[in-house]
Amino acid sequence: MKVDLIFTLEDLKNIEIHNKVVIALDVLRATTTMITAFCNGASSIISVPEIEKAVELKKSDSRTLLCGERNGQKISGFDKGNSPQEYNDVQDMHLVFCSTNGSKTIENSKDSKKTYLGAFINAAAVVDKLLSDHPEDEILIACSGKLGRVCNEDTICAGYIIDLIRNLKDNTELDDASRIAWDFYRYNSNNIMEIMKNSEHGQHLISIGAEKDVELCSIKDIMNITPYFDKEDYKIKN
Ligand code: MLT
Repeated sequence: MKVDLIFTLEDLKNIEIHNKVVIALDVLRATTTMITAFCNGASSIISVPEIEKAVELKKSDSRTLLCGERNGQKISGFDKGNSPQEYNDVQDMHLVFCSTNGSKTIENSKDSKKTYLGAFINAAAVVDKLLSDHPEDEILIACSGKLGRVCNEDTICAGYIIDLIRNLKDNTELDDASRIAWDFYRYNSNNIMEIMKNSEHGQHLISIGAEKDVELCSIKDIMNITPYFDKEDYKIKN
């Protein structure tokens, strides 16, 4: 197995991803929130970066929830924002999900061989899935970053995923970016929540009253699911 990594979603445009299995990360909070929604019974998610498109998709189906954020806050007129705590009552619901960075990462990964959603909460499940279903594939960990810049929260989660992979398969080849993320995780493995809270986006979320979200997004391996992007109908499914 070979693992490459990119630090921002913009880098996805410069990479040939047809033959790669992508792990899309937006730990604070989009992928954590979407994974939580599936764990609580959501049936499918369409992730779109543009608010107008999300609103259009909602109009065409009355059983759909319109979800998303701008600047961390629920978009005006939407049913839900981007806090994992809001997604306890979504059994059998279809979500249209529009977030600033995470939705773009998923959109930019759509031509991959397969794309999975990753976060701390399902990292071990993602690694199990990679080793069982994709042992010979090239893996690309796609950190979303924040507005075109590297971010601590995705980097440390990527490093944790790499650590899990290397513990199970110590001959896994890593590119330099993967090694940077792995080293960052290993240096800080006992301080994950601190890193998350002190990250730029963590600080922003705390400033708008979402500290509990940052804590929830920092917990490892509490959900044993691996939602993936289904190319056939452009939906994320579990
Ligand atoms: C994003 O997609 O940019 C984030 O998930 C923002 C947030 O924390 O709401």
